[in-house]
Amino acid sequence: MGKLWGGRFTKEAAAFANEFGASLKFDQRLYEYDIQGSIVQAKALVQAGVFTPEEAAKVIAALEEIKGEIAAGKVELSVELEDIHTNIEALLTQKVGDLGKKLHTGRSRNDQVALDIRLFLKAEIQRIVGLITELQKVLLDVAEEHKDTLIPGYTHLQRAQPVLLAHHFLAYFHMLERDKGRFVDCAKRNDESPLGAGALAGSGFPVDRHFMAQKLGMTRPMANSMDAVSSRDNILEFLGASSILMSNLSRLCEELVIWHSTEFGFIEMDDAFATGSSIMPQKKNPDFAELIRGKTGRVYGNLVSLLTTMKGLPLAYNKDMQEDKEPLFDTVDTITGCLKVLAGMLATMEVKVEHIAQGVQKGFLTATDLADYLAKRGVPFRQAHEIVGRCVLFCLEKGRELSDLTLEELRALGAEVDSDIYPHLDPRQSLQNRSVYGGTAPQQVAAAIREARQLLKDQ
Ligand code: ARG
Repeated sequence: MGKLWGGRFTKEAAAFANEFGASLKFDQRLYEYDIQGSIVQAKALVQAGVFTPEEAAKVIAALEEIKGEIAAGKVELSVELEDIHTNIEALLTQKVGDLGKKLHTGRSRNDQVALDIRLFLKAEIQRIVGLITELQKVLLDVAEEHKDTLIPGYTHLQRAQPVLLAHHFLAYFHMLERDKGRFVDCAKRNDESPLGAGALAGSGFPVDRHFMAQKLGMTRPMANSMDAVSSRDNILEFLGASSILMSNLSRLCEELVIWHSTEFGFIEMDDAFATGSSIMPQKKNPDFAELIRGKTGRVYGNLVSLLTTMKGLPLAYNKDMQEDKEPLFDTVDTITGCLKVLAGMLATMEVKVEHIAQGVQKGFLTATDLADYLAKRGVPFRQAHEIVGRCVLFCLEKGRELSDLTLEELRALGAEVDSDIYPHLDPRQSLQNRSVYGGTAPQQVAAAIREARQLLKDQ
């Protein structure tokens, strides 16, 4: 099969230019969606009076065969034919002759490729949402296991207030829940069919676009043919949702890297999710967490790449848009890998509960509780803050902790306290003091885990 536009041309394109323009290398990944679209196209052509039902049946059977052959790696696709769409048409024509050449009646590769991507995205989003849910379940399991493990909570990466480790992981559960929401939302807008838009102005044959959308399992046909062939904001939205997802994953990974360090010593990665050094025998590196953090860059890059490609493109189709696929595919593969590896890493890591427990006694984690105690006794909070600040300074100078100050020392520093203050300086009590909805008190966290599990069940 020669070029699709042979008639208008007197010579072939330069071979290297041809190769430069070809997308087969990457768009062959769309083959099954291309065939799904072609099957519906064949059905629509019966209604349009182009195919008899028998002819359409023949074409459809051949397309199914081709799908099996490509899946089994039995056919050789040719770069000379530029892309997957032309390759499949050529294979079809080999099988059914002129009927294969008729299939493209009223259709353009412009509506064809736009459809393929939408079908691809639809399937991939569903799969990715499943992977996010798997990761959320792992987070809930770790949270369940550590609903009594107290850790220092940080702001500015400085010790702030005690929190439950479960509470910390639940934060990521909710970030992921919103990430999922963005993908689900993107899938809704993506679920419209461009088929029948033709090159740009609409098919010249009376195909029923509503029928085609329905046969494709999509909500409806896209309302405007020019928009249908030239919009890629469905991909941009996906890449945007993926970028935000990666920003969340990379924050978690950054924490895992820090926590795995000797200085923190909160966790130890399982050997299956760590690497050694080729020179320093003592090393156990959290490579995979680092790599997920690193891959965030390429996912952002893919978004910026396509945003830049699309910027300023006049309606309708422009060949620039062929550049949409590699960033899309790369992002799909990258986030898939990241979600799976992160789930494995979290499920197998060891939390060094004893070591963490020693650490929470230090670092004035309950200073706010002392201030709150004073405030509850009527000291204006600003003033209470000032008094506790003095106590902390005193401790720092003497190398002590708030809980080892005597009543006399505390009073001398201006803190009007009684002996009932001591329980308040215990980090566990600090948790109890934070029993608002969404707070870190153990009963709140237990309820939050139940609520989160229910949320997943209801989806
Ligand atoms: N390979 C092309 C792409 O991915 C298919 C559409 C080509 N259409 C065209 N008019 N050249 O965008």
